[in-house]
Amino acid sequence: MRKKLIAANWKMHKTPEQAQSFVSALLPHLWEHTRDEIVLCPPFLAIPAVIEATKDSPIGVGGQDMFWEKEGAYTGAISAPMLRAVGCSHVIIGHSERRQYFGETDDTVNRKLRAALAAGLKPIVCVGEVLAEREAGVTEDVLRRQCSIAFREISGGEAIPMVVAYEPVWAIGTGKTATPELAAEAHRTIRAVAAEAFGEGVATQLRILYGGSVKPDNATLLMSQQEIDGALVGGASLDAKSFAAIVKW
Ligand code: PGA
Repeated sequence: MRKKLIAANWKMHKTPEQAQSFVSALLPHLWEHTRDEIVLCPPFLAIPAVIEATKDSPIGVGGQDMFWEKEGAYTGAISAPMLRAVGCSHVIIGHSERRQYFGETDDTVNRKLRAALAAGLKPIVCVGEVLAEREAGVTEDVLRRQCSIAFREISGGEAIPMVVAYEPVWAIGTGKTATPELAAEAHRTIRAVAAEAFGEGVATQLRILYGGSVKPDNATLLMSQQEIDGALVGGASLDAKSFAAIVKW
């Protein structure tokens, strides 16, 4: 059985103070909740506040991005060891917004993924097709390409902490969600590529999340699918009650 992971991606939202209030409002809802793993991914500046506020809880904290070098003349960048040093356990890599607005490619995703694993972070690697690709019937090819390049030069043993998030880009922030059938089909493709890269054993253990307009009212349907091992939640993770409702799907 794969334990489900529900991760909040706050994107460019919340100051440290707002992040702290969010955690204060969230914790009372989740004290007894051990069924799923929970991770919050705030903007970099709010990470220390969230680490502090969650310190006696099982909630993990992750970055939304990182650079592959450890340190150096890379203005504006944050490294994997820096995320580790402040107490992060996870990091999102290759989110479609990073690909769309910040020039990320399959190759940079692979470099970041390898650096995250080497630093002991648990990467949440995002893949997913845009609407034109879905309509052209090339979703499977896109997922195969994104995953096989992302997984390059990573051994089965190294891949164990990794999580993949299938996020169809047409479902992100649009209120449209993939049907459980579409998601399951995509998840099977991703798992097949993982099996080719890492072997069946690792692929069977790999958690594949769904992301794209997950809300309290569709979380139960999505999360009760055997192929869906959790959720990466954007908009609906900004409000503590709504995120708690998703976690308790
Ligand atoms: P959304 O974002 O839940 O607002 O659609 C999901 C994501 O981008 O990770």
